[in-house]
Amino acid sequence: MLGTPRARDDESAVRNEDLAEAEKKRRLERSPRPKNDRCARRGRHRAAAAAADGTMLLVARLAAGHHVQGGVMANVFVSEHPLVSHQLTLLRDRSTEPQLFRVLVRELSRLLFAEATRDLRLLPRRVVTPLAEHVGHRIAEAIGLVPILRAGLGMAESILDMVPWACVWHLGLYRDEQTRQPVTYYNKLPPTPNFDLAVVVDPMLATGGSAVAAIRILKDWNVRRIKFLGLIAAPEGVAALSRAHPDVPIHLAAVDSHLNEQCFIVPGLGDAGDRQFGTS
Ligand code: PRP
Repeated sequence: MLGTPRARDDESAVRNEDLAEAEKKRRLERSPRPKNDRCARRGRHRAAAAAADGTMLLVARLAAGHHVQGGVMANVFVSEHPLVSHQLTLLRDRSTEPQLFRVLVRELSRLLFAEATRDLRLLPRRVVTPLAEHVGHRIAEAIGLVPILRAGLGMAESILDMVPWACVWHLGLYRDEQTRQPVTYYNKLPPTPNFDLAVVVDPMLATGGSAVAAIRILKDWNVRRIKFLGLIAAPEGVAALSRAHPDVPIHLAAVDSHLNEQCFIVPGLGDAGDRQFGTS
């Protein structure tokens, strides 16, 4: 069901864990990472730290497709909807052209947004149908969409069609390809927020640096209720975001295998900004 945390199915859980373990072994045998590589080094440090507090087990389960209850990953929701799975596969395909890629980003964003907003507060609203009076509902929360530029733009635009009363606050962040650190280049937030719930949208959660920084900006701006909506994440990014902002629910279409030496998500889909805007 849309937006419902996964119920664990024991048989497929065992199968998924076996597959994840086999894939991990295959990767290790095939390509040891360069010793002096920054991303690989950071990954090893994180892995060591994570193993100490049990995070690694949670990350492995997450990669194997489980919703994780309890611990640092309690707030992570990975969609199980067949439409999400179908469209995400087309999105990953390297032969998908920008025009279709943008359509898929839009459709996936709407599906995930519907899942992520199941807990929006409602107030009664009285209407008169052609036959009778009816007391239904209206959404009681003001929503602020926060796309991380550039790749979050397509997500925000399609979600705005669903909640046209929402406001949109753009945050410009890019990942410096040398340092792998997020750099803020656009931030025009006014002195005080004008909404109750911020939904940060970015298709990719790789190291998690951009999302962590964007949510830090929103918290410093006094936004109290924040959700993150992404399409594909690496386990490393999920762990980083959960650790930095455990109060922020993370809604995703998929958690992939790992980050490569360039900190790209594998298998991933490449660069979501380039593929949306035809700039690769
Ligand atoms: C990508 C992506 C995220 C970020 C993820 O953007 O859209 O914003 O990288 O990486 P991280 O989790 O390691 O921070 P990019 O920097 O390529 O900018 P773009 O959207 O302008 O293409």
